[in-house]
Amino acid sequence: MADRYLSFTGTAPGRFLSRRLGLPQPAALRRWSPERPSLNGPLLRLTAGKSGLDLAPVLARTGLEVVEAVPAGGAAAEVAGAAGVAAVVLDASGVRDVDGLGEVHAALHPVVRSVAASGRVLVLGAPLDAGDHHQAAAQQALEGFARSLGKEIGRGRTVNLVRVADASAAESTLRFLLSPRSAYVSGQVIQVGADAPTAPGDWDRPLAGRTALVTGGARGIGEAVAETLARDGAHVVVLDVPAAEADARRVAERLGGTALPLDITAADAGERIAAALPDGLDVLIHNAGITRDRRLVNMPAERWSPVLEVNLASVLRTTDALLASGALRRGGRIVATASIAGLAGNAGQTNYGASKAGVAGMVRALAPRALAEHGVTVNAVAPGFIETKMTAAVPLFIREAGRRMNSLAQGGLPVDVAETTAWLAHPASGAVNGQVVRVCGQSLLGA
Ligand code: NAI
Repeated sequence: MADRYLSFTGTAPGRFLSRRLGLPQPAALRRWSPERPSLNGPLLRLTAGKSGLDLAPVLARTGLEVVEAVPAGGAAAEVAGAAGVAAVVLDASGVRDVDGLGEVHAALHPVVRSVAASGRVLVLGAPLDAGDHHQAAAQQALEGFARSLGKEIGRGRTVNLVRVADASAAESTLRFLLSPRSAYVSGQVIQVGADAPTAPGDWDRPLAGRTALVTGGARGIGEAVAETLARDGAHVVVLDVPAAEADARRVAERLGGTALPLDITAADAGERIAAALPDGLDVLIHNAGITRDRRLVNMPAERWSPVLEVNLASVLRTTDALLASGALRRGGRIVATASIAGLAGNAGQTNYGASKAGVAGMVRALAPRALAEHGVTVNAVAPGFIETKMTAAVPLFIREAGRRMNSLAQGGLPVDVAETTAWLAHPASGAVNGQVVRVCGQSLLGA
């Protein structure tokens, strides 16, 4: 169901009324389109502390005009012009103590106002295990800082923190977060390692020549993921239950891909996927998921087991089978689907919350081993309130609360999860491993 409140507050009377009544002010988010693939305006680069990151070449390739260190205090408005800056990147990786945090304040305080609507504030930090406890305190402080700014900045602007060990390994991440593709990702802390990145031949079609399998790809978020991976050049295999075969075929045909009717809970699902893809696969997206909500007191085993089976057990089983058989090639990517319900807990969802927290646990534990032994990264997306048939069926009052209880005051779209998935599936994202990235507009739940 369409978000009528968002449309209403996009009109002049709607804006006036919502402001007067102190109601949420969602801004229409700027998303990626072929006509408008990048943010609009210059990127302001600031530094706090003594940084050792070589950011210039990476930022230069974002396609945005980079304006380096403005003179202290107030000059940002001149740089920005009337339209404002599209993004501010503050390199705070060199912040080692509380005085360094003062530099963070001094750098951003005068420029926040100049960030355009749907613009980006990106803070770069150092890995938390570097340095002594003073440095750890200052670096952890950046998280509280970024998350707080995300909650107050408004106008569709996002704030994220990326812990960077090596700028070139973070290129795909910086490009994603500094583009309209990350419209609904805010308040996140993402760790990027130092593994050598594999630059794609073509940043516009990074998955060209690769095969991606999307479970539950016949509709909803999975369909959007299939579309986005196909846009990025992948041959997409749309897996869904046999009952959804017609829909899976329709999606696959539209994207020049293949449909694979299969119940992912089958004990031999991994072997059957490998048999259907004799040349192997590069990207495995665990998106299929179900809910069977009931409070625990009223939840019989028949409502518990299928949720754990589809959302967690089959994810573990197929992952193990496809890694062990080598069907998932080196350089491969696994992206599983968690949920903020798994991070925050949700009444009526002990089964679902358990399954989705389990996904996050799998990702964190498997990631280092899968990379070392198979050259495959393992990450998860954790969607918040996404506008799908599932959430359209939620009672009106709860649906409205779900939509507004995040920093962007609106629900996300399936494409927002898909874009985040595509970044994690990117050949140049090899240094992003073991991350659970929320696509939730910085939901208040579990934040
Ligand atoms: P959906 O119900 O629209 O689509 C799920 C798809 O998975 C369907 O096509 C279904 O047939 C397929 N599927 C279910 N069981 C399967 C099985 N055993 N084998 C193969 N395919 C199977 O759901 P939606 O909203 O698109 O969600 C996708 C994923 O995102 C799920 O894992 C869900 O838990 C997760 N999620 C969704 C949120 C939302 O707001 N919609 C929020 C947080 C997480």
